[in-house]
Amino acid sequence: TNEQKALFIIFGGTGDLAQRKLYPSLFNLYKQGYLKKHFAVVGTARRPWTNERYQEIVRNSISGMEVTAQQANEFSSHFYYQSHNVNDTEHYETLRKLADELENKYEFEGNRVFYFAMSPQFFATICQHVKTQELVTEKGYNRVVIEKPFGHDVKSACELNDSINKYFPEKDVYRIDHYLGKEMIQSIPALRFSNNIFNALWNYRYIDNIQITLSEALGVEERAGYYENAGALRDMVQNHILQTVALLTMNAPTMYADEDIRKEKISALKALRVYDPEGVKQNFVRGQYGPGNGQVAYREENQVDPHSQTETFVAGRIFVDNMSMAGVPIYIRTGKRLTKKETRIDVVFKNAPYNVFGHGKLKRNILSFKVEPNPGMELRLNGKKVDFDQYSIQSMHLRHEHGEEIQSKMPVGYEKLLYDVLQGDSASFSHWDEVYYSWRFVDSIRQAWDQENLPEDAFPNYACGSMGPKAATDLLKEDGNKWHFRP
Ligand code: BG6
Repeated sequence: TNEQKALFIIFGGTGDLAQRKLYPSLFNLYKQGYLKKHFAVVGTARRPWTNERYQEIVRNSISGMEVTAQQANEFSSHFYYQSHNVNDTEHYETLRKLADELENKYEFEGNRVFYFAMSPQFFATICQHVKTQELVTEKGYNRVVIEKPFGHDVKSACELNDSINKYFPEKDVYRIDHYLGKEMIQSIPALRFSNNIFNALWNYRYIDNIQITLSEALGVEERAGYYENAGALRDMVQNHILQTVALLTMNAPTMYADEDIRKEKISALKALRVYDPEGVKQNFVRGQYGPGNGQVAYREENQVDPHSQTETFVAGRIFVDNMSMAGVPIYIRTGKRLTKKETRIDVVFKNAPYNVFGHGKLKRNILSFKVEPNPGMELRLNGKKVDFDQYSIQSMHLRHEHGEEIQSKMPVGYEKLLYDVLQGDSASFSHWDEVYYSWRFVDSIRQAWDQENLPEDAFPNYACGSMGPKAATDLLKEDGNKWHFRP
C-alpha cells in the first residue's frame, strides 16, 4: 500500500467525535498500511493532559476493534497531547515547536492536516493563528478539515467561510459531510453513470418521483444544547439530504474527478426551487415527537425547553429545476425517534403508458439504494406470475446485498474521508458553493417557519416509534403518491 505521510493536528482532540470516529478511522488506515512510520497526531484541547493519558484514551477508543495489544501500543505511540487555549497566541508557538520536532522525528515532508473537531465559533481564530504563528509549512501541503455545522444560515456561513478563506484557499478546505463517505451514497453516481439503462431513463420523462428517507430511532440524546437551536432542518436537510439530492439530480460530470463532479453538483443545488412562505406551507411539513414506546416526549428531554418549537422531523417536496429533472417531485423526510434507523432512496419510475394485460394495475418500477443498515440495492420489476389458467403480472424484486465479506471491507465513513484528505481528493466533500446554495434553500423554509405563529399545541404531533406526523403522508397523497418505504 501507498503510505501517506502527514502530521494531524486535531483541535478538539479529547472530544466525543475524535474518540468515537477519528481515532478508530485513523487506526484502520494504520492497520492497512496507509499510515505507517511517517505519521503522528497532535491532539489539543483545554484540559491539561499528559501524552500517556492521551495515548490511553486513544487505545480505549479502538479497544472494541480487532487489535492486538502490541498494535494498540505502536499506534498510540504516534499520539501527542498539547494543552491549548485557542485564543492564546503563545500556545500556538508551543504547538509550532512541537510540530517541528515531530517533523524531524517522523519526516512528514511538511504535510499537515489541521482538523477542527470543535465548535465553529473558534474556527476563525484558529485559522488566523495557525497562519500568523507559522504553523503552516512551506514545503508539503496544509489542509484544513472542518466538521459541521458550517454556519446556521447563509449569512453566518458566508462569514465563517470568509474568515477561513482569508488564510486558507478553497482548494485546501475539506468540509466533512459524513454521508458522502457512506458506500451506498457513493454508489449513486456509479449506478447512474455506468449503466445505460439508468443513464437513459434518468429524467422527467421516465422518473415519476424520488423518495429519500433518513430515519433515526434515537432521540436527541445528549445533544439538546445544540439541537434545540438547530432542529432537523439544519441538522440533516441542509447537509446530508441536499448532498444526496445533488448526487441524484446532477448531470453527468465530464470525468469522475473532483473538479468536474463539483461543477455539476453546484449546478444542481443552484437549481433547487426556492419557495416563498406560501410555497413552504404547501411543500414542507415539520414535526416534533411526543411520548410513545416507553420514551418521553422531546419537550421532556434533558435541557429541552418544555415549550420548545424545535422540529425533530421534516418532510418536504423539493424540485430541482434543471432541464432533465424539472417537475419531478423529490420527497424527503428525516426525523428522530422514528420506527427504525434506516437510510434509503427510492427512485420511482413511471408506469408503462398502457397496460396490455388489461386487468389489474401494474406496479411501479422502483430502484432503491439501501444505504443503511444493510447496504445494497434493489430493483422492482413486473414479471409473469407462475399460474396455469391465467396470464397475470406480479411484482418481483431483484436484490443485491453487499454480503458480510464485502461489508467487512467497507470503510467506515470517516476512514474513507480521511484517506481522501491525505490524497488531496475533495470529490466527497462539500464545496463552498454547494454549502451556499443549500443554505439559501434551507433559509427560505426556516424564515417562513419563524414567521409563522405556531400554536403551543401544534407540537408534539407524532409519537415515538411512528414514521412522523400524518401530514408527511398527506404530502404525497396530494400528488397521488405514497411513501414506498413503510417499516
Ligand atoms: C449527524 C446529525 O450529522 O448525523 C445527527 O447531527 C444524526 O443528529 C447523524 O444523528 C446521523 O448519522 P448516521 O451516520 O448515524 O446516519
